[in-house]
Amino acid sequence: MKKRTRVTHLPDVKLPPDNRPLVAPIYQSVKFTFDDVAETQKYFARKREGFYYSRVSNPTLQQLEQALAGLQDRDACLLTASGMAAISNTLLALLKAGDHVVQFAESYPPTRSFIRKTLGRFNVTASMLSITDHAALEQALAGTPTRLVVFECPTNPVLKVADLERITAIARRHGALTLLDNTLAGPHNHGQYDVDLYAHSLTKLVSGHGDAMGGAVIGRSELIDSMREDFTLLGPTLDPHAAYLLLRGLKTYFVRWDAQCANAQRVAEFLATRPEVSRVRYPGLRRDPGHALASLQMDGFGTLVTFDLAAGLEAGTRFAESLALFSITASLGSTESLVVAPAMQQPRGLTTEQAIWTDIGHGTVRLSIGIEDPEDLVADLRQALDRLAA
Ligand SMILES: Cc1ncc(COP(=O)(O)O)c(C=O)c1O
Repeated sequence: MKKRTRVTHLPDVKLPPDNRPLVAPIYQSVKFTFDDVAETQKYFARKREGFYYSRVSNPTLQQLEQALAGLQDRDACLLTASGMAAISNTLLALLKAGDHVVQFAESYPPTRSFIRKTLGRFNVTASMLSITDHAALEQALAGTPTRLVVFECPTNPVLKVADLERITAIARRHGALTLLDNTLAGPHNHGQYDVDLYAHSLTKLVSGHGDAMGGAVIGRSELIDSMREDFTLLGPTLDPHAAYLLLRGLKTYFVRWDAQCANAQRVAEFLATRPEVSRVRYPGLRRDPGHALASLQMDGFGTLVTFDLAAGLEAGTRFAESLALFSITASLGSTESLVVAPAMQQPRGLTTEQAIWTDIGHGTVRLSIGIEDPEDLVADLRQALDRLAA
């Protein structure tokens, strides 16, 4: 072989069967070959295992799919390049023109927009309810045949705790599927409930380091398999290198979760002592409206703490800007603590009544708690609140 050929056909390095890498390699390959056409055709006819094209399947992705499905107590998973891709592709795979969806004011705004605006263009109709209004859910499902109930638990940003047993039972009774965006609870939570599909932004708790984006939808294999072809055609594929970073994040998932939940509890308890704070929402606080349900449903109360500054929106901006350890930015689940000021999260695209259901006030601040020393976080919050008072 000439040198020009040699550099495009690199040497094959084979490991002895008893000599394995401790960390699985990244299969950063779009294509996989078979030795002949007959074997390739057997693969297409599903008469043999293997890989062919990474938009369809890839060993690095398969490792992450299996790990996440197991964590969520289900047997199948599809991965996507972002959390929104998991949600939007799932909705596209499950819905057709004329279908009806129930969604909730207390949910991630882009999910609401996708259902209302994008799916609206394809003649999918939607009802907007409040996550705590079970009578309205019962009534909506009794009144209109509904394909899907899309909800979150805990909700973003006010951390209301949805009653999973009740909501899934109502949906099941009326023949609607449930899609739970489980991003804030994490994939180790809520598997014991009769939820059909769990969506995750892996960008958050699974990555944990703010350096990789990804999404997953997890469920029973029959349901996931029914969506597989649409996912292949829509092409929201996760890149193997991002999958590798997410697998690496997964190894420290519980260590980070435990540390972040403990820090969040400490921060919530501190904020509850401060006169500038009119309300703290953290399911780990005994007097939080979601405490009893979260104690029953969740392992750990989560890594976000949301609270209201009595002085309102402008004070919220000054408060966020006074913090030294909390960065002003979107997203959550990083090792670093983050803050979302009230001005960044006022309800949009909702009626006045629906905006009231969200419980987002003029002074609502959302904190994403990292793994720093909790006393440093408390000291930083204390100095920012003291400055407000001054
Ligand atoms: C609850 C929830 N769902 C979905 C998403 C979307 O995830 P991604 O940014 O990975 O698309 C987010 C992002 O903030 C979120 O908070």
